[in-house]
Amino acid sequence: MRRTARLPADKAGLAEAAAVLKRGGLVAFPTETVYGLGADATNAEAVAGIYAAKERPSFNPLISHLDSFETAKAQGIFDETARKLAEAFWPGPLTLVVPVAPTCTVSDLARAGLDSVGLRVPAHPLAHALLKATGRPVAAPSANRSGRVSPTDADHVLGDLDQRIDAVVDGGPSDVGVESTIVACLGGAPRLLRPGGVPREAIEAIIGQSLETGADGEKGPLAPGMLASHYAPRAQVRLDATDIRPGEAALLFGAAPLPGSEQAKARLNLSENGDLKEAAANLFSYLRQLDASGAHTIAVAPVPETGLGEAINDRLRRAAAAR
Ligand code: TXA
Ligand code: MG
Repeated sequence: MRRTARLPADKAGLAEAAAVLKRGGLVAFPTETVYGLGADATNAEAVAGIYAAKERPSFNPLISHLDSFETAKAQGIFDETARKLAEAFWPGPLTLVVPVAPTCTVSDLARAGLDSVGLRVPAHPLAHALLKATGRPVAAPSANRSGRVSPTDADHVLGDLDQRIDAVVDGGPSDVGVESTIVACLGGAPRLLRPGGVPREAIEAIIGQSLETGADGEKGPLAPGMLASHYAPRAQVRLDATDIRPGEAALLFGAAPLPGSEQAKARLNLSENGDLKEAAANLFSYLRQLDASGAHTIAVAPVPETGLGEAINDRLRRAAAAR
């Protein structure tokens, strides 16, 4: 057990966070998607600490975060498609899985032994400042214990990881709310490994072709984050609810009321206006709040499958998957 410091989002807090990372410690920090649990990606021992703190299955490769496309180029090989996507969406909520470069310094452990590497340049100014001060790739999965929902503020992080990590940089709530979109550019057609903060449509518009979906069967668990029950509240989750039954908590979307929702054990609306961006930002925090109501089931109103709705529904289906 260690003491977990809550560091302020200022110069001194960031300097301390960078120092902890450089000496092999674990620091949770805000990104525009969710809070990440960071470790020096080049230091396998530090990376091992991430798996231990999260109690995460060790076959999961991690995303390495960088301060710019320039520094990312030393880590991975970007083909034409990867370059276009990096130029269009970095900094931002996109992760590119590319072949490792000969100059790659990301440890084998962070890559789970694969000959590819997951790279992302986050847009959050605090993440950017921290990465710049640290001066090396920072491996960071979401800062939750394995199997729990991703944290979108410092209190969520401490709820799961207090006394398991060295520090959390408190930068307030994350604004995208779902994780980055992951696209593999490994030769051949680019593949959508995980829907996320950049909608599929925006990516397809840049590359002028449609994305293949899902892991490549022959290569095994390409993105083990795609494991069916990854985002799991304690309550059961009932999707596409057209009514709310006695004892259930209600996760609503849009203005139309669901019959029975006035008697719900707890009730939150992802977005009264039907705004998918707002819904994504609220998703994980609302799942946590409804779970905390003690309801046996969280009933979820239908969410459209367009734009960010693809990522929202993906996370909801995982939360609902049988465990
Ligand atoms: O928004 C995000 O992406 C957040 C913030 C903190 O940046 N991070 C995040 O990391 O969600 P994590 O570790 O929870 O999800 C990483 C996903 C996993 O599904 C992992 O399997 C996949 O990225 N991944 C990483 N490297 C990969 C690789 N070389 N090949 C295939 N999948 C990879
Ligand atoms: Mg995660």
